Amino acid sequence: MNEKPLLAALDGHSVWPPPAWMMRQAGRHLPEYRATRAQAGDFLSLVTTPELAAEVTLQPVRRYGMDGAILFSDILMVPWAMGQKLWMAEGEGPRLEPIQDLSALSRLNPVALRGNAAPIFETVARVREALDEAGSRTTLIGFAGSPFTVACYMVEGKGGSDFALTRELAYADPTFFARLIRILTDATVDYLLAQVEAGAEALMLFDSWSGLLSPNQFRRWVIDPTAAIRRAVAAAAPHIPMIGFPRLAGLMLGDYAARTGMQGIGMDTHTDPRWAMQVVPDNVALQGNLDPLALMAGGIALETEARTLLSTMRGRPFIFNLGHGIEKETPIEHVVQTLRLVRGG
Ligand code: CP3
Repeated sequence: MNEKPLLAALDGHSVWPPPAWMMRQAGRHLPEYRATRAQAGDFLSLVTTPELAAEVTLQPVRRYGMDGAILFSDILMVPWAMGQKLWMAEGEGPRLEPIQDLSALSRLNPVALRGNAAPIFETVARVREALDEAGSRTTLIGFAGSPFTVACYMVEGKGGSDFALTRELAYADPTFFARLIRILTDATVDYLLAQVEAGAEALMLFDSWSGLLSPNQFRRWVIDPTAAIRRAVAAAAPHIPMIGFPRLAGLMLGDYAARTGMQGIGMDTHTDPRWAMQVVPDNVALQGNLDPLALMAGGIALETEARTLLSTMRGRPFIFNLGHGIEKETPIEHVVQTLRLVRGG
């Protein structure tokens, strides 16, 4: 069995106590993150300065002993690295110059991706080196957004809506949309493999908005491209496990697990773990899904939620995590208590 608990779980073992990490663990709930971010000046400078990005990747590992170190970057760095203008509107979130037709699409430059994203791959290398030097049992997780979720931001130029424009365009102009998804599928493979070459030990695909699609569209724009990515990554890096997180996929979760061939499936906050266990094969690790708001609230509610999740998952491959990203107001003490509970203390 792999001596890194997270890799052992992704290998199909029921490691107990289960490995644990938290989505958005490197971020604004940590004072040391806010300090490093201030030093960098802005979010994009932080992501593209390997020394600082490696530092914030490692901060939650040092503070909490997380079993996973998620690369500090963003899903929108793929369109950025292909030349789409990206900026962070302070307090509002990411902005991109919208791409809504073939001529705008043709201005993307996938060939430039590896060069432009080089600082991100250097961050991966630095984090891996630091973990190895310390003899750490923490697994370095590289990631990308899924083609559909990234396409939502690329088309609309910002988040915060239900991406109705993107979903309508997928019906109205399938030629354009298929081309966009195709470009993103290839770029994502390229980007993930570069992270593996730099030292990532596992990969995660974030599909935050997959659940907005109808079942037919979900198969076409989520399952098919995700399966293609999984196949291409496996062909080049057969030893690297992948986790898929099709947020809000609901009843499509079983199809997603069966047809994409992921080694781990992320459950969102809305998913009943008892049901997920029935639709996801026993050898596939489930990851999740403590409500980030329970973590924020703390007390008995947090303890009850965490204990129920643990007792449900006991005996199958499982990775303790949240159902979505950690909220920035989350008290550090609640994270510490939760990990103590997970580890049986
Ligand atoms: O700790 C980690 O999880 C690693 C780094 C990471 C970030 N974003 C850093 C970040 C990861 C894995 C992501 C993924 C991501 N980014 C997703 C998928 C997961 C999800 O949350 O659904 C999405 C949809 C994005 C796009 C994005 N980036 C949004 C919508 C925002 C604004 C919202 C927010 O929380 O501010 C970002 C900015 C962002 N990405 C921040 C961080 C730490 C906040 C930047 C800051 O002001 O410091």
